[in-house]
Amino acid sequence: MSHHNAKDTLSITDNRTGRQYEVDVREGDVIRAMDLRQIKVNESDFGMMAYDPGFTNTAFTTSRITEVKGGKGILEYRGYPIEQLAEQSSFLEVAYLILNGELPDRRELDDFVHEVTYHTYVHENVLTILQGFRYDAHAMGMMISTVAALSTFYPEAKNIEDPANRRVQIIRVLAKMPTLAAFAYRHHKGLPYVYPENGLSYTANFLNMLFRIGGREYQPHPALERALDILFILHADHEQNCSTTAMRVIGSSRGDPYCTMSGAMAALYGPLHGGANEAVLRMLTEIGTTDNIPAFMDSVRRGERRLMGFGHRVYKAYDPRATIIKRAADEVFEVTGRNPLLDIALELERIALQEEYFVKRNLYPNVDFYSGLIYQAMGFPVELFPVLFAIPRTVGWLAQWEEMVVDPEQRIARPRQVFRGHPRRDYVPMESR
Ligand code: SDX
Repeated sequence: MSHHNAKDTLSITDNRTGRQYEVDVREGDVIRAMDLRQIKVNESDFGMMAYDPGFTNTAFTTSRITEVKGGKGILEYRGYPIEQLAEQSSFLEVAYLILNGELPDRRELDDFVHEVTYHTYVHENVLTILQGFRYDAHAMGMMISTVAALSTFYPEAKNIEDPANRRVQIIRVLAKMPTLAAFAYRHHKGLPYVYPENGLSYTANFLNMLFRIGGREYQPHPALERALDILFILHADHEQNCSTTAMRVIGSSRGDPYCTMSGAMAALYGPLHGGANEAVLRMLTEIGTTDNIPAFMDSVRRGERRLMGFGHRVYKAYDPRATIIKRAADEVFEVTGRNPLLDIALELERIALQEEYFVKRNLYPNVDFYSGLIYQAMGFPVELFPVLFAIPRTVGWLAQWEEMVVDPEQRIARPRQVFRGHPRRDYVPMESR
């Protein structure tokens, strides 16, 4: 809290009544919405509210986890720049940082990795649940249901006030997401499940559960293992995005973290959010060749289509994650061969970065624009792309959920509304309708 002195106030004149109000300005440029309620025309009025569809200008929480400085394209986890973490850290080390607020020392990291490694198995009943889905069930539908189902195996997770209990559940979810995702993928392919291997890294184990066939020892290519680790670091958290907001809102009724997170995953699934990486690939595939780009861009300018993978509520500059992903793509394509859709993506970006329609709307590539090209080159089906976003974002959702659970300022989320419906009227008997 900055030092508070007399001038840190807003003077508000209500011209309907001529009344003057003084409202405190806090933490630099924030007023408390409740300070508006005193503004009334009649004493019986409810009082002034702020109307903000989509929460474009509403801070509904304080947080110490992630800061996004949209105008400058800056992203920092607990103060550390994303570029340095992507370059020098690992996903599980970043997960520790996001959850605990500090980088671990060697013993802390080894203990954390050990805990996660030894919680990767799911109860065998979960396999029966997965068997209930059709082969062509979307992996996100399977994941959302199965994560909620996990709550039935750990009823003690409801005891969210106990820090030790929260920690056990957080480790469980973090550890089991890759297992559930791999099992969903193997179900889709009609292949037997490959169980977690404790001797492999987080991402190598995930790739092994996805792609190992038969007894052949599967060795994920180190460049692909590293690229996936970097992608996981980049997707770990992003302050109050739609799905994290869902996590905090659902969690505010004090339920268990599994059911709460299934709601966050449902929010992520939408094509405007984490479903965008899948939508990007479908868009690039539909465009097919660079010759078709002018016609497609015309349809975007006419407002008929969205340029998926572009634009962002906060970033009004290049998403720093897209820059790093683009570099990682080169390393992946060295191993897998160049994804032909890259040429279409690069041409779309070239046009968007120079044309008035896109520049005016700050439509820069976001995290979802290039990630799908890497996932496709690595052999992932498009249905799995949102799942590849959900796995790393699990640590962001859980860290933000825990921050909400222990925040004394937080209460159950229950916004107000501006009522525009019918005024009071009497019931009309059927014969009179
Ligand atoms: C993620 O919040 C996060 O941090 C999210 C995320 C995270 O890490 O959690 O960063 C991950 O979800 C990235 C975003 C992925 N989504 C997409 O790529 C889908 C395409 N992008 C958009 O739909 C849109 O840009 C959003 C949803 C990302 C942001 O929406 P806003 O802030 O509500 O912006 P808007 O829809 O009000 O658009 C402002 C204007 C509009 O034009 P006008 O009505 O003023 O004429 O820009 C236009 C929009 O039509 N616009 C686009 C566009 N995005 C916005 N026009 C064409 N193509 C686009 N991609």
